[in-house]
Amino acid sequence: MINALRGMKDTLSPENEVYDYIIKTCTRIAHRYGFSLIETPILEETALFKRSVGESSDIVGKEMYQFRDKGDNDVCLRPEGTAGVVRAFIQQKYDKAGGTRRFFYHGPMFRYERPQKGRLRQFHQFGVESFGEADVREDATIILMLKTMLDALDIGYSLEINSLGCPSCMPTYRSKLVTFLENTEGLCEDCERRKLTNPIRVLDCKNEHCKTLLKNAPLIIEHLCLTCKEDFETLKRILDTFEISYHVNPKLVRGLDYYSKTAFEFVSSEIGAQSAIAGGGRYDRLVEFLDGKATPAVGFAMGIERLMDLVKMPEPTREGYYIGALCDEALDVVFRLVETKRLEAKVLTHYEAKSLKNHLKLADKNEAKFCVCIGEDELAKNTVWIKDLESKEEKIIAMAQF
Ligand code: HAM
Repeated sequence: MINALRGMKDTLSPENEVYDYIIKTCTRIAHRYGFSLIETPILEETALFKRSVGESSDIVGKEMYQFRDKGDNDVCLRPEGTAGVVRAFIQQKYDKAGGTRRFFYHGPMFRYERPQKGRLRQFHQFGVESFGEADVREDATIILMLKTMLDALDIGYSLEINSLGCPSCMPTYRSKLVTFLENTEGLCEDCERRKLTNPIRVLDCKNEHCKTLLKNAPLIIEHLCLTCKEDFETLKRILDTFEISYHVNPKLVRGLDYYSKTAFEFVSSEIGAQSAIAGGGRYDRLVEFLDGKATPAVGFAMGIERLMDLVKMPEPTREGYYIGALCDEALDVVFRLVETKRLEAKVLTHYEAKSLKNHLKLADKNEAKFCVCIGEDELAKNTVWIKDLESKEEKIIAMAQF
């Protein structure tokens, strides 16, 4: 027997209803904030992710589904959505056109990680990317939008924020950190590698020994330039105004290399070790880095499977019709009626004649709002028998009226 690959899964009803509910809820809110749908290919050139997510990241270093296609192109399954959206933004020449553009997307992402609860090799994200707005109020807006989405899904969270500085403050801080790291012995293998490729990622190490060694490491938040400092203050002030509680985590550096300034993560205490339900931040240099015209940008992505473990679904409501035949002679009429009614509503049926009791049972099981039956009497008088399964009201109406 052939099973799905490790870390990948099939999703069926009723799980898919939860997935669908999350996408619909987030889409509705993203529209309200002026974001529109973008779809980019699942397969991209490997170089796109190497240059954006960064060679020093675990994602590029260890987790990519990378292979050569039949044309000998080095390609990989997207491990995240931002890089593809930025590529599309540049390819459409939106960078040259200027102005602001706001996109949202959802779909599968692939990371060859060690599967565990909340961590899959094929998982799904709902993400947003906003281009052309350098004002920190845009960062605040997308955090508010994400909060609105989580509230609508009835998901509790805590928010962590940090600032990763900009080209005018990061290099000075970075050399200070490197000096500290050079004088620190006993860091794990990953940290030793990151020390050379992307030293700030060392701050994020989960190894307990490294955490102790890094206790007194210099922090970017204490070395921000005036602009970054002011922006971070403005962000905090807006969050305070909207009574969004947050925790400044000066060691929050995110696992992707493209960030500068605002970085944030929404975390849940209810889903175990893989607690990040969404993450994002500003990436003002990425468009230029991928050969576009310099354009400020900010975005986030949520892990849909992790949200699915937390979402509280609204009570299911009855919907549409169940239409059944009470005798063989009514089968054709029922078939036609079902197809006509489907132009306006969800309709279920059975291709055999059954008793009223059995049809009512099936209508109830399928959560139809109305059960409609046609038997000999109805055929003779050109009527239908209809019962509202919520109010329990029954009546006979003309077929044309139905
Ligand atoms: P990320 O933090 O790598 O950011 O992923 C975002 C979210 O995807 C995580 O918070 C988590 O909920 C979910 N996720 C990540 N890996 C897995 C996995 N293996 N299994 C299940 N869920 C997972 C990004 O991907 C950035 N592109 C976000 C962004 C958009 N930044 C700016 N714009």
